[in-house]
Amino acid sequence: MNAPKPDAAAAAHSRRVQDAVVDAIEAAGGWISFADYMQLVLHAPGLGYYSAGSTKFGAEGDFVTAPELSPIFAGVCARQIDRLLKAQGGGALLELGPGTGAFAVTALERLHQVASPLLAYEMLEISADLRERQRQHIRDPLARWLDALPTPAPRIVFANEIIDALPAERFVVREGGWWRLGVGWGEEGLEWRVRPAEGQAEGDAAFRAHAAMLAEDLQRRGVTLPEGYCGEWHPQLNEWVAALAATVESGAILFADYGLPRTQLYHPDRMQGSLRCHYRHHAHGDPFAYPGLTDITTWVDFSAVAEASEAAGMQVVGFTTQTAFLLGGGLEAELQLAAALSNDPVQVARRAAGVRQLMLPGEMGEAVKLMLLTRGIAAQGEAFGLRDLRDSL
Ligand SMILES: C[S@@+](CC[C@H](N)C(=O)[O-])C[C@H]1O[C@@H](n2cnc3c(N)ncnc32)[C@H](O)[C@@H]1O
Repeated sequence: MNAPKPDAAAAAHSRRVQDAVVDAIEAAGGWISFADYMQLVLHAPGLGYYSAGSTKFGAEGDFVTAPELSPIFAGVCARQIDRLLKAQGGGALLELGPGTGAFAVTALERLHQVASPLLAYEMLEISADLRERQRQHIRDPLARWLDALPTPAPRIVFANEIIDALPAERFVVREGGWWRLGVGWGEEGLEWRVRPAEGQAEGDAAFRAHAAMLAEDLQRRGVTLPEGYCGEWHPQLNEWVAALAATVESGAILFADYGLPRTQLYHPDRMQGSLRCHYRHHAHGDPFAYPGLTDITTWVDFSAVAEASEAAGMQVVGFTTQTAFLLGGGLEAELQLAAALSNDPVQVARRAAGVRQLMLPGEMGEAVKLMLLTRGIAAQGEAFGLRDLRDSL
């Protein structure tokens, strides 16, 4: 990897994270699942990428997200959220994992501007240092920080790039079966270890059951994964979606994330799966490089999100690409608003660059999808009208 080396303090932190991983591997008898590895290196208290104090976002960080790129993204989402809030006669907005708080700042501004019936802007953030950054950034009297999911109420839930950070199981097709890819400690350091899920390791039974279900569903859809194919799934997804849906007595959930419908995600053309790591703006495929300093993501199976949502009693009323969502949801109105505020050439150029990155097919435009789920309100998914991709789920 051609990225700058970590400084001494960061390198020492990464060694501590690696030591914790090695301890976990030894305690488990020499092997841990990739999901357990991700949980540790991303979320272990005081150690993980999201729970310790690394910069993460922006020029000095590792990656950039849509709300960081341009306020246009949050502006369009807020217009969609406003229509939903009005359709249900008011309620709370819950944002999961607000990052630096950039989305919340613009969304609150727009929701106030359009006199949205917003009762509270709730935020649930598992990272203590990000929560602190949000508190410094968001000064709105409607802002509330939660320690756990709230009780059911009329509510809209929003989550950008959260599902792709959930721990993922990894598998490889070997001798016609689905083997479990996990992590071991070898002469060169942390390394991939593959084994058939035959019951010696914790979680083998759940892995086998999920693999059988997925393989059968893919077969029904005409997909057989070839020998050597490697892929991922999110084992906590069903539970996680059900818990979120339970907070929505009536209202909606709006997800934005890198992902695909199942037959496109598990496609023989994607032999190496969708695992992607980010360190100082270098995207790479090695999750063992600088543990604790590297973000690790895997793409979302949106068919699985739709299934989990329907099982939790919610209806999928929209699924489309980020480009179609922005075009259908009020991009022009947002651009006019921005132009009325400032026509300074530097600002205009910056705005154009941001929108390009949000919309270009090779950037976020096609890779990021938005999905809207509702319960108990008439569908108000105008931003999804331009390109309805629900048939592909
Ligand atoms: C890739 S960042 C996205 C941040 C922000 N939504 C954005 O678009 O800029 C992932 C965020 O989700 C938080 N996070 C990860 N897993 C979470 C979970 N299970 N519940 C709530 N927040 C979570 C992280 O701490 C971080 O703020």
